[in-house]
Amino acid sequence: MSTSPAERTLVLVKPDALRRGLLGEILGRFERKGLVIEALELRTMDAELADQHYAEHVDKAFYPPLKEFMTSGPLAAVVLSGDEVISVVRTLVGATDGRKAAAGTIRGDLSLSNRENLIHASDSVDSAKRELALWFPKL
Ligand code: PPS
Repeated sequence: MSTSPAERTLVLVKPDALRRGLLGEILGRFERKGLVIEALELRTMDAELADQHYAEHVDKAFYPPLKEFMTSGPLAAVVLSGDEVISVVRTLVGATDGRKAAAGTIRGDLSLSNRENLIHASDSVDSAKRELALWFPKL
């Protein structure tokens, strides 16, 4: 009997996390949960990639500062796989605003901001598919 391949999601460990030296701490949480790192690249997002990645937000008032922040330095683009990885990662990451995210989550423990909130994680099967194709077209 064949089994379907494990679900995949895209995580961006944002420039604030790299500036603060939190990449190992954040990846360690995913690894300790039992998720698998399938791909990992240090990249600097340019304006074009930001507009594509955040296509649903480009007209929102918070987009210009979000874009400035996301293009401000290197980030780590990570493909994670595992059982129900999309929702598992969203739970580990916590709510968007670090001030409101539950203690024990990455943002709840390590962020005080809704902009410098350390991580982006795909929020659905459709967005994971779109974002993985954008960041890792050969995978
Ligand atoms: S929405 O409108 O509810 O879908 O937005 P939300 O999911 O809360 O946030 C989408 C991304 O926008 C970032 N964000 C902000 N950036 C800068 N300034 C402000 N005020 C702000 N509010 C939200 C938020 O961190 C989300 O980034 P990603 O990379 O998707 O996690």
